[in-house]
Amino acid sequence: MTAMPARVLSLTQPTADSLHLGNYLGALRQWVALQDDYETFYGVADLHALTVEVEPQQLTERTLRSAAQFVAAGVDPVRSPVFAQSHVGEHAQLAWVLSCLTGFGQASRMTQFKDKSARVGADKANVGLFTYPILMAADILLYQAERVPVGEDQRQHLELTRDLAQRFNHRFGEVFTVPEPHIVSSVGKIMDLQDPTSKMSKTSSSPNGIIELLDEPKANIKKFRSAVTDSDTVIAYDEENKPGVSNLLNLLSVFTGRSVEQLVTDFEGKMYGHLKVAVADAAMEVIAPFRQRTLELMEERTELEALLLAGAERARAVAAKTLADVYDAVGLVRPAGAAGTAR
Ligand code: TRP
Repeated sequence: MTAMPARVLSLTQPTADSLHLGNYLGALRQWVALQDDYETFYGVADLHALTVEVEPQQLTERTLRSAAQFVAAGVDPVRSPVFAQSHVGEHAQLAWVLSCLTGFGQASRMTQFKDKSARVGADKANVGLFTYPILMAADILLYQAERVPVGEDQRQHLELTRDLAQRFNHRFGEVFTVPEPHIVSSVGKIMDLQDPTSKMSKTSSSPNGIIELLDEPKANIKKFRSAVTDSDTVIAYDEENKPGVSNLLNLLSVFTGRSVEQLVTDFEGKMYGHLKVAVADAAMEVIAPFRQRTLELMEERTELEALLLAGAERARAVAAKTLADVYDAVGLVRPAGAAGTAR
């Protein structure tokens, strides 16, 4: 046993101009909390973002914004290297080796590829979209990550990662740590404000149902205040019959730290309008400073770029060692100067 804390790694794709409330409460807050107990690495999956068509300038902007939002949410770049996936060339290098170990049939079973390629049209889907889970496996295995916090939609990709690690270790000797999923669940259950029976989501929510954290505070306050409830008047928790009210209670509970039961008592005899105002106020107390900090970081672009550079250097220090071990294991000649390890 070593005294080293276990390693955690996660990346998100820079596919939106702003994180939404579901991302923040589901994933990012979790990332922040994990820093206390683990050695954490957090990245922007800019290579993954190329799997669907994106304007070059938009990709640049979104990559920087993603990093800024990590930091604004409380990811501490001193404790957790924050880096862009494309800055650490080892990701693409390992992805190639792993792709040569992945069966075509196995890759074809990835349900997210089926969904996404159906969305863009099967003839428009590119090969990168198909091999995307293999690049994701490389992201994870390079860092010997023990735990990978992701949403439920990534479970199958983690299974593939585990499978590839085991297959590699079996065939070439123990090189990779087999990672455990760390599925981010319940708090992630933030529902659409206009359609509270479906999750708040970038792809399916209507503009008024989703809280984009970097939007003007006024616009977001308005969205909270016009959240859909029901024709009843009683503030009670009942996900099935009162999904809108229940979602508001959940949100208020997350933001105030009070339990849903306490809140139901607090709001006895009050109207839906009171609840909505309370949610808007409590949420904006968190969202407004987050937005402010993100915008400040975006103004200091050189510093933000320096932060990513420093993060990439620290990430590469780990990634390069794993890759050197992979070279040895599979019989590629290790380039002079590359040093492996045994973690
Ligand atoms: N595929 C993930 C998503 O879309 C993002 C991702 C890329 C990732 N590489 C990763 C997540 C490595 C965890 C670990 O959400």
